[in-house]
Amino acid sequence: MKEQLEKLAGTSLEEVSSACDIAALDALRVKYLGKKGELTAILKQMGRLSAEERPAMGQLANSVRASLEAAIEERRTQLEEAELEKRLEAEALDVTLPGSRVRGGHKHPMDVVIDELKEIFIGMGFEVDDGPEVELSTYNFDRLNTDEGHPAREWTDSFYLDEQSRTMLRTHTSPMEPRIMETRSLPIRAAVFGRCYRKDEVDATHSPMFHQMEGLVVDEHITFADLKGMLNNMAVQLYGPGTVTRFRPHHFPFTEPSCEMDVQCHKCGGKGCPTCKGEGWIELLGAGVCNPHVLEMSGIDPQTHSGWAFGMGLERAAMRQFKIADLRLMFENDVRFLEQF
Ligand code: DAH
Repeated sequence: MKEQLEKLAGTSLEEVSSACDIAALDALRVKYLGKKGELTAILKQMGRLSAEERPAMGQLANSVRASLEAAIEERRTQLEEAELEKRLEAEALDVTLPGSRVRGGHKHPMDVVIDELKEIFIGMGFEVDDGPEVELSTYNFDRLNTDEGHPAREWTDSFYLDEQSRTMLRTHTSPMEPRIMETRSLPIRAAVFGRCYRKDEVDATHSPMFHQMEGLVVDEHITFADLKGMLNNMAVQLYGPGTVTRFRPHHFPFTEPSCEMDVQCHKCGGKGCPTCKGEGWIELLGAGVCNPHVLEMSGIDPQTHSGWAFGMGLERAAMRQFKIADLRLMFENDVRFLEQF
């Protein structure tokens, strides 16, 4: 038996030290130390030994087992380290390689204009808002004093979402006026930005989707003078000191009196040039003093409070600022166009 044990120790240790991977090592463990393993088989024969022989043989068997176990563990560590080494080498990162360039994005010309206007109006104490693009026709029209029969309510002009013409895509940002009036406490200074929709054919100056800005002020003792003061201030901040404006009478159902504001062409100083299409003036926005009926419908007493409002198309402002000739370029998202800003 002694010889058997010594022979087993010799071959098994050799096999363990040359095991080429963890799986082979596990197989060797089973082969020698497992329940049906070779060492176990030898130990089962111990019963046949005499009482004198047994302790020495037991000791030898134990030391063979111990050294085999130790050898397996040692080989396992070696194999694991080699494995890790191999993986680290395979996954090595060469930090000296040139990186792939990340192309930085930038603001869309529309956002440049919107952000500039936000700055100006936040500076004058306005709160910024957006509001729903899918709007109730009540807010889009009725609450703005635009009753049934008004041409703007025609199906040919607006995108309705149901047969009864109750829901629609808003045609302007003005429905945010009654929405803000009925929810916010007075005084109000609101600047609303967002998309609007009208059934217009796409061409160089029209799009069924466009952006507007709405301004609304409601307080005590607000007059047309406040409207002119604030809008002149805005024009100076947008186009520089000395900017000349003019206010022409106009009609909007939700303001009385109403006007349109033009700025004198900053390119030609009013003489007429391609930028102002020879007119010397550039139409900027519609505005007016809030119609008392509009205030009343939103629960504001026109005896104690008054207000002014304006609405401005933003595409034209952006096109003018960046000399963009065709409105369609704004929405096509062609990188060659967008890269220029
Ligand atoms: N909502 C008008 C439009 O889309 C613009 C406008 C005019 C807004 C006068 C106003 C206003 O708030 O007072 O043409």
